[in-house]
Amino acid sequence: MGLPKFVQLIDVGPRDGLQNEKQPVPAEVKIGLVHRLQQAGLTEIEVTSFVSPKWVPQMADAPAVMAGIERQSGVRYSVLVPNMKGWEGAVGCKPDEIVVFGAASELFSQKNINCSITESIERFAPVVQAALEAGVRVRGAISCAMACPYEGDVAPERVQLVARLMRQIGVQRVDVADTIGAATPRQTQAALEAALKHYAVDDISGHFHDTYGQALANTYAALEMGIWNYQSSVAGLGGCPYARGATGNVATEDLVYMLHGMGIETGINLERLVDAGQYISQTLGREPNSRAARALLNRRGVVHA
Ligand code: HMG
Ligand code: MG
Repeated sequence: MGLPKFVQLIDVGPRDGLQNEKQPVPAEVKIGLVHRLQQAGLTEIEVTSFVSPKWVPQMADAPAVMAGIERQSGVRYSVLVPNMKGWEGAVGCKPDEIVVFGAASELFSQKNINCSITESIERFAPVVQAALEAGVRVRGAISCAMACPYEGDVAPERVQLVARLMRQIGVQRVDVADTIGAATPRQTQAALEAALKHYAVDDISGHFHDTYGQALANTYAALEMGIWNYQSSVAGLGGCPYARGATGNVATEDLVYMLHGMGIETGINLERLVDAGQYISQTLGREPNSRAARALLNRRGVVHA
């Protein structure tokens, strides 16, 4: 199969990227980041989460962030929702898409959302139904699709099971997530093949954290299978509070550099994307965690090695 000619990216930096940030990040900064991402040409942005502020304090300002965004037409704004309480908080903020988030590993499900996989599906079902009735799209994240910080390697059959359960309750598309960024390309392909048993290739996205530096290789392996939707995080921000030591998603800048170099279109302006990454990195007091961004900034003479 030839590689896709176009890749659709969802920048998850404002959500996955910032959720684990220890220092308080004001809502205005999060809003400023979303604005810069849309100016750079991102047409899908995962903005925030409607989760318990006791579990993830950094996302407690979700309504303020959603309210402060000047929406651009053609951009889809998504938010994480784990249960009905989350949906009740989210619906008034008019997200274009919600993300219910489950896991292929039992222990990760317990640690992350405090319930078993079966219970999580029971909680998601009414949320999915309410969202679809309200005309809001529904995506489902399958965490620990290849490896789990508590259980080790995860069998593809587990991914297939969760994909089937998500399909049954009406989830429209799924993210196959390497939460701890430990997978290698063949493992990634096996997890994606498992998801493909229940979802079309157009309805599966790759969500690869880059802890072990495998995310670009895993993306290439997924491209070979025709997968053309990916999630990435500007400036490589992030990590999951319930997967200690896991670093951020692959940096959007690195992914865009690779894709454009391969002649694959994204609709994203790489220089503007670097500006967005520079904005949030400077605010957080660090350099962008993106090799491509640092190289491009070096060329501009902003960062000196
Ligand atoms: P729980 O404690 O089992 O919930 O948490 P509960 O229903 O028993 O309620 C306990 C308290 O939480 C109550 O408040 C509820 O009102 C409140 P109290 O009466 O004690 O004052 N509560 C809520 N508050 C606000 N929003 C809500 C909500 N629900 C209950 N939605 C819960 C269950 C799921 C809420 C909790 O475990 C939680 O919030 N977990 C957060 C998990 C999270 O955000 N993880 C990071 C995102 S997932 C991720 O990063 C992975 C991903 O990137 C893919 C990948 O890389 O793998 C997507
Ligand atoms: Mg993640």
